[in-house]
Formats: sequence, C-alpha cells, structure tokens
Amino acid sequence: MLVRADLNVPLEDGRVADEMRIRAALPTLELLLERDAAEITVCSHLGRPSGPDPAFSMRPVEERLRELVSDERLEVLENTRFNPGETKNDAGFAQELASGRDVYVDDAFGSAHRAHSSTVGVATLLPAYAGLLLERELEELGKLLSEVERPFVLISGGAKVDDKLGVLQNLGGKADEVLIGGKMAEQVRDENPLDFEVILPVDVVAAAAFAEDAETRVASYGKVPEGWLGLDIGPETRRLFGERIQQAQTVFWNGPMGVFEWAPFAEGTKAVAEAVASVDGFTVVGGADSGRALNELGLTEEVSWVSTGGGASLELLEGKELPGVAAIPEA
Ligand code: 3PG
Ligand code: MG
Repeated sequence: MLVRADLNVPLEDGRVADEMRIRAALPTLELLLERDAAEITVCSHLGRPSGPDPAFSMRPVEERLRELVSDERLEVLENTRFNPGETKNDAGFAQELASGRDVYVDDAFGSAHRAHSSTVGVATLLPAYAGLLLERELEELGKLLSEVERPFVLISGGAKVDDKLGVLQNLGGKADEVLIGGKMAEQVRDENPLDFEVILPVDVVAAAAFAEDAETRVASYGKVPEGWLGLDIGPETRRLFGERIQQAQTVFWNGPMGVFEWAPFAEGTKAVAEAVASVDGFTVVGGADSGRALNELGLTEEVSWVSTGGGASLELLEGKELPGVAAIPEA
C-alpha cells in the first residue's frame, strides 16, 4: 500500500517541533496494519525545497512516527519534493510511486489543494481510496459549507500570503466579518486586492530586527518606524479582534497573527486562540501553525475541529473542488 499523508510539520534543530499532523495520520496507518496490510509505504512532502536538501529531510519525521507506531511493515519515503517531478504532477514520478504497490490511500488533506504526483498522479495509476483523516476533514469542514449559525467570523493570518489572498477574495461573501492579521494584513493594507470590507489591525508590535530578542515597541498600524518590522498585532487589536470573535456563532480561523514561535510576538495569536476557544458555537481552526499555537496553549479540546489543512481548508470553504479529493472516486 502507498499512503500519502501530510507530514509537512515544523522542524526545529532537526527535530519535529509540532506533531499534530503526525498524530492525525495514525488512525489510518493503524487501521491498515490491523487489517493485515503486508507493507505500507508512507510518503509526504516537507516544506518547499527546490531539490534534495538535508534541511528538509523526512528522517526526523520518520523517527517520530516510528516512536508512535513501531511496526516493521511501515516504510517512510524521503521528501516527495526532492523529486522535481512531484510539484509538476509528473507522470514518471507518479509511476515510480505506484510501482510495486497495489493500493493508494490518500490521507493528506492538508495537501489536497495541490495537484502533484503523490496526491493526484498516482491516484490514476492505482485503485485509490480516502483515508480516515481525509474523510473526517471533509465531513467537519463540510459543515461550514451548508447553512451556518451567524455571525460567521473568518480570521486569516499566516505566512503563505500569496496563496491565500485569492481564496479570501472568494470567501468574502460567506462570512459576516473578516479579520486579517499577520503578514497578510500588511499586503492588504498596501495593495488592497480585496473588494469587500475587512477588519485590519489598528496597532502592531514592531521589532528592530527579525530576531526573538530584538527590541520591540507598539506602533500604530501602518506607522511602523522606518527599518522596523511588524511582527505581531498590538494590544488594541487584540482587544478589537477578541471582541468581534466573541460575538460569533461560527468561526473559521487560519494562520497566526504574528511570529508566535517567539514569545515577544505570541500575544496576538494567543489572544485570537483564546477568543476562538471561548466561543460556544461551531469553531474550526485550520493549518499547521494555528493548530500548533492552539496545542501549545492547551486549547485544542476547546474548539469544534482542528483541521490539518490551512490552504486546503480555505479552498474547500471557497467551494472549490480540491484536486486531491477529486482524484479519489469515493471521496
Ligand atoms: C501545508 O502545509 O499547507 C501543506 O502541507 C501544503 O504545503 P504547500 O503549501 O507547501 O504546498
Ligand atoms: Mg498550507
């Protein structure tokens, strides 16, 4: 069996810094092992390397996975993106992945918005099935696609700005309020590519350098001193966003408000996480980074669903057919 999981997890000092996506992949692997799969090859991409690059090796992930499921029938392939064919959905690479395997199981919801060899190409070569995580993600996120309790508040942040702006544009009409923080807010302020009203930060935590121990100060939004960097939303914005979120009946949050991995810039993401957790209605948090922040704050159990997909969940919400889902006949 070939299992495509999304094991694109953050690494720090050569170790897995957050294992949400690894844990989320376990039920399918355990089920297949229980059902006597003879051999299971797990594959995934990790980061965005432009070719083989030890900094993006799957080995730390494999190590952690093996600690969680020790079974000699399990094999973990090296980063699929080490092969330049992967992101082009190259048929030759798909063939390589399919070769010697009888069944393909796609459990990589987080990568379902990518039409790559390991998410789409290989599904045309082998009998293809959805894994348990993929199914559950579609079920939970699907609830946001039908009628939702309002107000529906959408919060967006994170680093992959270019990926997400187009999606947000299409999502604008679905939510009653759209709050934007993080790097994305900068871009919306500068170019305003969206044609609907959004709530932007009013202040930011600015730093003298991109470093954990850099000197910081609070600046008005749009008035960050020359040469300084806005690395988190400020205290006034935390209050404003918190207020808006607390009025929601339905929430979808994707992407941190700042560089939350560094304590001086974690408060904005923390405030959003706490506000989302305090909402009584249906609350969904999507993406590896937001999921990690939630987990570090011990709030995972306080929301309705933590999606392993960031970009994928946004595109699903937008009403798009995800190529990785479309490739599976029964999904
Ligand atoms: C993610 O982390 O969003 C998925 O693993 C997809 O990664 P990508 O944005 O580099 O394609
Ligand atoms: Mg993503």
